Amino acid sequence: MAKNLTNKKLAILTSGGDASGMNAAIRTALRFAMANGYEVYGVMHGYQGLVNDEIFKMEYKSVSNTVHTGGTILRTSRCPEFKEVEVHTKAAKNLLDKGIENLIVIGGDGSFHGVEALHEHTELNVIGVPGTIDNDMGYTDSTIGFDTACNTVIDAILKLRDTITSHDRIMILEVMGRDSGNIAINSAVAGGAEYVIVPEANPVDPVEIAKSVKKGYDVKGKTSTIILLAEGVNYLKDDLIKEISEATGRRVNHMALGYMQRGGNPTMADRVLAARMSQRAVELIMCGQSGRVVGIRGGDIYDLAVLEALKIPKEFDEKLYDLAKVISK
Ligand code: ADP
Ligand code: F6P
Repeated sequence: MAKNLTNKKLAILTSGGDASGMNAAIRTALRFAMANGYEVYGVMHGYQGLVNDEIFKMEYKSVSNTVHTGGTILRTSRCPEFKEVEVHTKAAKNLLDKGIENLIVIGGDGSFHGVEALHEHTELNVIGVPGTIDNDMGYTDSTIGFDTACNTVIDAILKLRDTITSHDRIMILEVMGRDSGNIAINSAVAGGAEYVIVPEANPVDPVEIAKSVKKGYDVKGKTSTIILLAEGVNYLKDDLIKEISEATGRRVNHMALGYMQRGGNPTMADRVLAARMSQRAVELIMCGQSGRVVGIRGGDIYDLAVLEALKIPKEFDEKLYDLAKVISK
């Protein structure tokens, strides 16, 4: 829906879990908007900061030396009360009182519900850019931060391989992704993990996995085993440890990689994705668009209504999952 085309003030916020590349997204949004005659404002701490009026004017230099940095210079938050209509009105008023009618929100699917709420209940023009390590949004092939997180997991696989091989141990490496196995599957293929266990392909039988791990040593001459366990199925951890250690007689270690996956310098892929997506977000604002989100499909940047985007389920990449199973163990 097109709202006001003439307003030349734009605010930017980041929301939900931080993701590497958010700063690259902020930088492009700010500089591309300024190049097109906009005044740019930052909102600190996501929707919470919008409600609390943590809004400040940004300058061209505000994003200097940030393109390579992880985290978000605008900080982020979870703001549970943002589900209430009165809160949307109050938050929008803080921008509208300063003459700011445009807002870009960088975040995950929870944050996009906020985009829809602000679009529907207020006078703001609001556009969403997908920033989350989970890559769990169906309308887009990738999200800002996913590639960097996978590279962190791959690095961990390589390092853990050294130590478990030295000790003849087995490692269960738990990775993030909420209900999505995308980080686990992609990192397993790229890092050469022997097994990957994800919510999309559950149930799995720990007894069968244990038998297969044993066969890897007895028949195939394996000298180490790494199992990537997505956090959405981490309740399988204890059964896996028990069954595999009983079957193989080897020590089985578990490690949750945790928040390491959210930090670090963004990869080239995430920086460029962030730049391309933010450019489209500003272009949409320039056309007076609102209630839309930016995505990537088959290498092309596109946009669609946030309500439509939120309805599209994430397709499980069964082919990649099956391939991971064939090539690794
Ligand atoms: P992400 O955006 O990474 O998925 P969350 O799910 O935690 O992270 O959502 C981030 C924030 O988005 C929440 O803290 C809340 O402020 C806002 N949000 C989530 N769900 C809704 C909703 N249904 N309506 C409005 N705002 C929401
Ligand atoms: O959405 C990103 C993410 O890192 C998920 O992978 C994970 O489940 C969650 O956020 C952790 O959230 P919190 O920062 O609230 O612990």
